[in-house]
Amino acid sequence: MKEFSPICLSGNGTPRSLECLVIQSPLAGVSDQIFRNFVRRWSPKALLFTEMVNAKSLELGHGEEKVIELSEESGPIGVQLFDHRPDSMVDAAIKAESSGAFLIDINMGCPVKKIARKGGGSALLKEPELAQLIVKKVSKAISIPVTVKIRLGWCETTSDPVSFALGLQEAGAQLITVHGRTRRQGFSGHANWKAIAKIKKSLDIPVIANGDIKNSRDAIECLKITNADGVMIGRASMGAPWLVGQIDEEIKNQTTFKPPDAKMKVSLSLEHLKLLVSKKGNHGLLIARKHMNWTCRGFEGASNLRHKLVRARTPNDAIKLLEDELLKFN
Ligand SMILES: Cc1cc2nc3c(=O)[nH]c(=O)nc-3n(C[C@H](O)[C@H](O)[C@H](O)COP(=O)(O)O)c2cc1C
Repeated sequence: MKEFSPICLSGNGTPRSLECLVIQSPLAGVSDQIFRNFVRRWSPKALLFTEMVNAKSLELGHGEEKVIELSEESGPIGVQLFDHRPDSMVDAAIKAESSGAFLIDINMGCPVKKIARKGGGSALLKEPELAQLIVKKVSKAISIPVTVKIRLGWCETTSDPVSFALGLQEAGAQLITVHGRTRRQGFSGHANWKAIAKIKKSLDIPVIANGDIKNSRDAIECLKITNADGVMIGRASMGAPWLVGQIDEEIKNQTTFKPPDAKMKVSLSLEHLKLLVSKKGNHGLLIARKHMNWTCRGFEGASNLRHKLVRARTPNDAIKLLEDELLKFN
């Protein structure tokens, strides 16, 4: 495998360097500030992303909670925007830059019908000229780097991902992340890392490979096949905020990282729950349920604990369950 070297992004302003090989993906409904702060514990230098943000809403003054106080978070945070209107994207990008974004990422991969039907996310894969115009306009308007996250195309028969990516590079994109599936594939099958390799070979800007990387073995294999400049981890990090740091450390230092044990997982879940409840009140419990359900796995009694946690009616009931579980480790 090639030696790790920092990823250099130039943008219109001062060049910015990324000191990480492993990146946390944007995850709608998951990668909020609380989750990112957990990921940061194990990954001080990794690039982390906000959940995708609706650019039109941000332009109109809604959805700002997703981008505020970014400058108070340590390490680089990318703000990911989606829409198809260049002017809304520009306005939202300016707002995100002033909130402390390290870079602006443009979503050209989201398969969700509600978004693609309106022309955003993966629908831009069918509109290369509009996609380039967005990148060009946003890059001109801000001084931080502009990056794009794409899939391999809308569907296998009509896709030419190499030309699409070259067009984005030409328009000013500083880095491209490729999820190795088409929009039509959704999340089925296996990500096509060889197709990512073709894109990497054709571009001068850094390329990040994404799709189906669950551990450092996958990451090493993916880097070998794609020759990419880094890898991005999505689903496997849900409930495992240590995973990005774990993979980065295992690849760079060729050591085996000790992931959190049962006690730590329960204690993390308790902390996550309390933070969500203090920020969002009772609604925090609903959000915490999925995180607790993902994190409380792989230890004796985990299934029983999960079973009780999904039935907890109030935040205090859930807190008590986790506190009682913690007592068992003393
Ligand atoms: C719950 C969920 C939310 C996601 N949200 C976003 C998003 O906001 N922006 C984006 O570009 N991709 C999003 N994705 C796609 C992931 O970032 C990633 O590209 C995809 O899951 C493939 O990587 P993986 O195999 O490592 O999960 C989401 C995926 C999931 C499962």
